[in-house]
Parts: sequence; C-alpha cells; structure tokens
Amino acid sequence: MNQDALRKKIMDLVEREGFFDDLEKKSSFLPGESPVYFALQNLGAEEFENVLQVLLSQRFVGAGFTEAFERDFAAFSQRNSSLFVNSGSSANLLALSALTSNLLNDRLLQPGDEVITVAGGFPTTVNPIIQNGLIPVFVDMNVNTLNVDVSQIKGAISKKTKAVMLAHTLGNPFDLGEIMKIKEKYDLYLIEDCCDALGSTYRGKMVGTFGELSTMSFYPAHHITAGEGGAVMTDSPLLARIIRSLRDWGRDCWCEPWKDNSCGCRFSRQSGTLPFGYDHKYVYSHIGYNLKATEFQAAIALAQLKKAPSFISRRKEKFSKMSALTSQFEEFFVLPEATPGSDPSWFAYPLTVREEAPFARGDLVRFLESHKIMTRMMFGGNLIRQPGYAGIPCRISGPLEQTDRIMNGTFFIGLHPLMKDDQFAYIEEKLLEFCRTLRSRENHD
Ligand SMILES: Cc1ncc(COP(=O)(O)O)c(C=O)c1O
Repeated sequence: MNQDALRKKIMDLVEREGFFDDLEKKSSFLPGESPVYFALQNLGAEEFENVLQVLLSQRFVGAGFTEAFERDFAAFSQRNSSLFVNSGSSANLLALSALTSNLLNDRLLQPGDEVITVAGGFPTTVNPIIQNGLIPVFVDMNVNTLNVDVSQIKGAISKKTKAVMLAHTLGNPFDLGEIMKIKEKYDLYLIEDCCDALGSTYRGKMVGTFGELSTMSFYPAHHITAGEGGAVMTDSPLLARIIRSLRDWGRDCWCEPWKDNSCGCRFSRQSGTLPFGYDHKYVYSHIGYNLKATEFQAAIALAQLKKAPSFISRRKEKFSKMSALTSQFEEFFVLPEATPGSDPSWFAYPLTVREEAPFARGDLVRFLESHKIMTRMMFGGNLIRQPGYAGIPCRISGPLEQTDRIMNGTFFIGLHPLMKDDQFAYIEEKLLEFCRTLRSRENHD
C-alpha cells in the first residue's frame, strides 16, 4: 500500500471513530470539577493528518512542511522572511545574537553595549542580552498596559545604548509610536518579542513589522502551537542569512538537509584560510547553535496557521466579554488597558490587585485555584529579584516601582478561543463569592 492510500485509511478510521469530535465533547465544562485553563491548545484532524504524513514520508527535518510554514508564516507576519526554530526562547536568542555578527561590520553589537528592556516579563526576552555579554538596561513599566513606561526611555539612553528589546506583554503592543521615534533619533535596533502577540496590531499594522527583527513562540499555551516552536522574522536578507547560519550550527551554507550545492560553488570557494574549495557545507561563518525544529513541528504549525485568523478574532471577542465581567470589580483591580492606537490579540486576561484593596493577590489566587480556576503570575515578576539574576551585569534606570507593583499585584487567568460562556459565568460567580466573603469578614471585624 502506498503512503497516500495508507494515510487515507488511517484518516477514515480517525473520522469514523470521531476521535476529534470526542476531544470537543471532552472539553464540556463541569463547574468546580473541570479546570478553567489559563490556556488551551486547539488541535484537530488536520494537524494529525500532517504529522502522519511526516511519519510516513520519513523526512523528519528541513523538508516540505518547514519550507511551506516558513513561506506562509512570513506572508502572515507581513515580513520577507521567517525562520522556523525550536522555541520562542531560541528565536529571541537568535534575534539578539544576529546583531553581534561580524557580517554587520561597524553596525554590530559588542560586549558592553547596552540594550533597553524591562525587568517585568518572561526571562528569555532578557536572557539573550546577558548571554551575549551585553548589558540590559531596565526601565520601569506601566501598570495599566503592563508594558514599558516609554516616558522613561530617553533618560535611560547612554552612548553605549545600541538596541531596544521588548515583548508585547500578554499580546498588548508596547507604545510603538513613541519607541519608533526614539529608535530613529538614537539610531537603535529594535527587536519585538511577539511570542504572546500573534495578530495584535498597532495603528493598523501587525506587531512584529516595526523592528529589524521580531520573534514568535508556538508553545502550546500560545495563540497557535507546534508543540514547541518559534520563528524569527525580518525583512533584511543579511539578517535572515545570519540567523539561518546561527540556527544551523553556524554554517555558511544555506542548503536544506536534502539539498546540495544550492550556491553552485560548493567546491570552488575560498573561505578563511581553509584550503581552496573546502566543502561549503562545512564552512562556518559563525559560532552557532543547532536550534532547528523538526518537520513534525512544522506540520502542526502549518495546520494551526490556517486557523489563526479565527483564533485571533475569538480572542478579541473573549477579551470584550471578560472586560464586561470584570468592570464590576474595578474598585479592587487595575484592569488591563490596550495601548492607545493598538488592537491587541490578548494571550490572557491580566488583573492587578489594587494596593488599597482589602485583600492580597495571594488570597485571591489561592481562592481561585481552590475552585479550579487556573492562574499565572506575570512571569518572572521583577527579574532582578530572581535568584538566578543576582549579580548580573546590568544598569537599572530609575526606581522600578511599577515593575514591583506588577510583581506584587498582577496575575492572569485564561482567555483562549475554547473558553465557553459557562466558564465566564463561573469566573464571575467565584469573584462575586470572594467579594461577598470579604464583605462579611469586614462586617464581623
Ligand atoms: C513574551 C515571551 N517571550 C518568550 C517566551 C518563550 O517562548 P518559548 O516557551 O516558546 O520558549 C515566552 C513564553 O511563553 C513569552 O511569554
């Protein structure tokens, strides 16, 4: 039996047994028993069929799905190139490392150069700065948007500042209007970490199209998934070449694993002081990594990408629904605010317990978790307070008061496309119950 016939037979069986219908049914909600997930992947028969095709083809790296995904994701992201990698963290590492490449001549970042960022967020937005011997300069944040406080960036810039690297927090774009002005004025590189922000726009333009480089994650919690995966996007052919090289062991050759001699001079180049004609496949222009993803991941990601527009619009719809629900609790919480001019595709729903609220975040989080409503912190809170960051070379520009406020008061709950009305009603019921308990406690006191 050939591959296509076998695939069809398996898929017919999967359909007949209603395997993916069952998954839909299994997600039916029993209040107090089923978890209200902070995130949930949404997979179907198409992802399954693509993975099956990879298994049957026995081409597990750098073949058709990777090529198709890189092409389609670049188009979706409105950039010339997208390079598929094994995680969003790897994408960040590659994006920043690319700016240290000798191929950038006098525009390269060198050890000791500074990169503006924030301390409140996911560690691997900041880690590549440290890992490349550069100095993170931490600027305070805004508690309403959970992004950098742009009014403080100019004061943080020194002669050594060469780049800005920031995430669009939980899908909420940072103030790109102001940051682009600063970028132009001080001639800085911009890396946009869009790992939580697939489909968010600023003044009608997709995030990830503003900086020289942008990154994406396909971890299962994110807007679309590949199991694990990520991408680096750029319009620059030179940066794309550098990233490909760094991703693929540092090699100079850009042939896919199943191809040879794409350059047409595999055995007729002079490279460094190697003997003339040394096989281009084994010429290394960078001290690289291997951060490639597999065909299995690309197969899943390609099927997911087709669903991205519907996932994104459902996230926006769910955000409005959740905002309507939480508005009655505004005396207790700072509610999330979209950055002016932006249309976020939210990753989750953040709430910041007001400093004057009659309860601590921990009380509420424990209550929600005890009722199976999953919560998550704003990632690392304030990274410089994390044990692993003690003594890192960094510059802290002004007090990080709002960052600490986010560390102390912010958490998020789920807002994924599979969330149903009964889950919203359950969240509301539990928040009301928590507030009632508070009031009755206050009356007793
Ligand atoms: C803003 C941000 N950047 C980077 C990452 C890292 O992505 P990954 O888990 O794919 O390595 C995450 C992870 O969730 C994230 O939230």
